[in-house]
Amino acid sequence: MNKKRVLITGAAGFLGSHLCDKFIGLGHHVVAMDNLITGDLRNIEHLFKLENFEFYHQDVSKYIHVPGELDYILHFASPASPIDYLKIPIQTLKVSSLGTHNILGLAKNKKARVLVASTSEVYGDPIVHPQTEDYWGNVNPVGPRGCYDEAKRFMEAITMAYHNVHGLETRIVRIFNTYGPRMRLNDGRVLPAFIGQALRGEDLTVFGDGSQTRSFCYVSDLVEGIYRLLRSDYHLPVNIGNPAEITIKEFGDEIIKLTGTKQKMILKPLPTDDPKQRKPDITKAIELLGWEPIVKREDGLKVTYDYFRSLPDWTLKHKEFGR
Ligand SMILES: NC(=O)c1ccc[n+]([C@@H]2O[C@H](COP(=O)([O-])OP(=O)(O)OC[C@H]3O[C@@H](n4cnc5c(N)ncnc54)[C@H](O)[C@@H]3O)[C@@H](O)[C@H]2O)c1
Repeated sequence: MNKKRVLITGAAGFLGSHLCDKFIGLGHHVVAMDNLITGDLRNIEHLFKLENFEFYHQDVSKYIHVPGELDYILHFASPASPIDYLKIPIQTLKVSSLGTHNILGLAKNKKARVLVASTSEVYGDPIVHPQTEDYWGNVNPVGPRGCYDEAKRFMEAITMAYHNVHGLETRIVRIFNTYGPRMRLNDGRVLPAFIGQALRGEDLTVFGDGSQTRSFCYVSDLVEGIYRLLRSDYHLPVNIGNPAEITIKEFGDEIIKLTGTKQKMILKPLPTDDPKQRKPDITKAIELLGWEPIVKREDGLKVTYDYFRSLPDWTLKHKEFGR
């Protein structure tokens, strides 16, 4: 395959950094962009010495300029965990609206193909289960999660408009919960929260009665799905996630077994608008992309746990650093 020039926004974040590794691994040139609002340069520091890697410390929601040609743009910049977007709702709204507009303009100018990172949150608290791409969702626009969910819905709409009006080559991936090394311990998502609590010898906090479900996709599976979608000729949204569904209570039991912690689970009230069930229908991804997740949760969790255990002690003690 020809060497491509690929812009990845949100490159210092969890998913963006794994995408950088993927494209560098394939021999492409990566232009990484991030304003570090929730990301961490340590996620990509191993790439700085490479000639085919460059980094722009830049806010995507402001005017962006990238010299030279671009073949692909992957727009992954956005706070992604509830703890982050509840703290910075305006930046969250801006990056998926103004930021996406900037990215689409850049793609048009460079004649690049653009893939935007949407989310299962566009389905809100879903009434259809499992969620198929033609389900329109059940989102509360004025609830606490509205800033994220509605921004992502706008992102999809403006991406479609650029495709329809300007003939831009666009791809939309709807990502379901993904996990793996480089997640932040303090990002509020259930997996790092449970592992962090187990490592600190604290009880595991379950919100609600633990009967709500999630399905967790290991990061290497997700990256492969995204890569196949980018290379496909399909412009409508595609779910990428792992359909293996589990209740939060069962997941807590798995973490207790994995970590060997003597602690127990304690229940706390469910946050407003927390989705009760989540499971992707991945028929489209299977049929269009020949993609299915292959990493078993048992194996992915072990690698992720080993990663968190390898972090220096102070990241555990000082929750605000949280890496
Ligand atoms: N991780 C998941 O399970 C998941 C699920 C669904 C969708 N997504 C989407 O994938 C993308 C990446 O998520 P993640 O889990 O890696 O989150 P993350 O917080 O680890 O990474 C996001 C990155 O974007 C950067 N960023 C945020 N606003 C920016 C701006 N205005 N300009 C430049 N950079 C900015 C942050 O600094 C960070 O490095 C997000 O768009 C998110 O909505 C993730």
